[in-house]
Amino acid sequence: MIGLLFVAFLAFGAYIANENNRAEAAREAQEDLKAHRGATLYVNNCRTCHGMEGKGTEGGAIAPALNRTSFRVVEKGDKQYVQTPEGEATALKSFLFNTIACGRTNTAMPTWSEKHGGPLSDTQINYLVLLITQGRWDLVTEIGHEHDAPLTDAERAAILVKDPAALSLTAKNCGQFNPLSAKEFYERDALKPLGADSAGAQATATPKGAPSGPTVQGVAVGDFYQKTCATCHGNKRQGIVGPALTPAKLTNTDDFYFNTIKNGRPGTAMPAWGAAGLKDDDIKALVTFIKTVEP
Ligand code: HEC
Ligand code: HEC
Repeated sequence: MIGLLFVAFLAFGAYIANENNRAEAAREAQEDLKAHRGATLYVNNCRTCHGMEGKGTEGGAIAPALNRTSFRVVEKGDKQYVQTPEGEATALKSFLFNTIACGRTNTAMPTWSEKHGGPLSDTQINYLVLLITQGRWDLVTEIGHEHDAPLTDAERAAILVKDPAALSLTAKNCGQFNPLSAKEFYERDALKPLGADSAGAQATATPKGAPSGPTVQGVAVGDFYQKTCATCHGNKRQGIVGPALTPAKLTNTDDFYFNTIKNGRPGTAMPAWGAAGLKDDDIKALVTFIKTVEP
């Protein structure tokens, strides 16, 4: 009798375990489907500016990279990495959701939410968020190559300069971030290998001594440039999407460049850094830096 019970118990246990596996498989299939939908939306709406595989300006596109590992969320049960704490995952997802939904005033990033006159529903925006947080750029490549070839240089240039109105530049501020308020999301250490010694992981984060020389927001001006401007102007200030920023190239007045940095260039990818939170003194330090310091 006890033996029988035991067998029944084992069989039941096996059934439960199998049920869990099936639920897990079903969940994965669901997520895959959603990421697939996100990838299709990306190919049709986003890659013109953010690049074929989300590589952004690094891949020659006009907008920042979206394939950053700091935009990744690690789900429960991942076999390689430590799960992202729930609060952190929620904050990141709402940052991405709001940015896509609202766009960024005074930059080329359009408003996508149909609530604000754009073409996409909340559900569709969530598919895009899933694509980015799961880093499913493999799907984008797959679907993109089925679709057609990437943009030619001429087509890309046309996006940048012609008819900014066609980019539906947003005038509404619906919970927008800017490159400064978004900073915490660029610096996340998202992929922590399982079993890694957490003390070791912390060691890299020890702050350096206070910087000497001119600073912007408490950071040495050169470091600030690398973190904030280099995506578009190049890490050697050689110019990528934005023009080269070297003393030889910058022949206009200080005021001219001060105004450009403070107010941005509406209709281009150059953000308005005054609105983003840079103080006049910060901007002056940047102008002096790009006009007088050789890269
Ligand atoms: C017309 C060009 C253009 C298109 C199309 C476009 N974007 Fe953007 N996007 C930009 C620019 C430029 C920025 C940077 C804005 C800034 O400097 O604050 C940006 C920023 C972003 C950011 C914030 C990234 C960061 O580093 O802060 C996300 C997320 C984003 N876009 C997602 C999307 C998605 C998803 C789509 C497609 C539905 C899309 N974008 C389509 C131009 C574009
Ligand atoms: C998302 C891309 C992007 C980022 C980030 C960016 N820029 Fe720009 N920037 C541009 C583009 C594009 C232009 C050219 C605009 C035009 O066509 O008039 C530009 C133009 C400029 C110019 C004018 C140069 C000239 O010769 O007229 C200056 C100065 C400048 N940026 C400084 C900065 C600084 C400083 C930062 C960082 C705080 C920064 N930019 C960050 C895209 C960017």
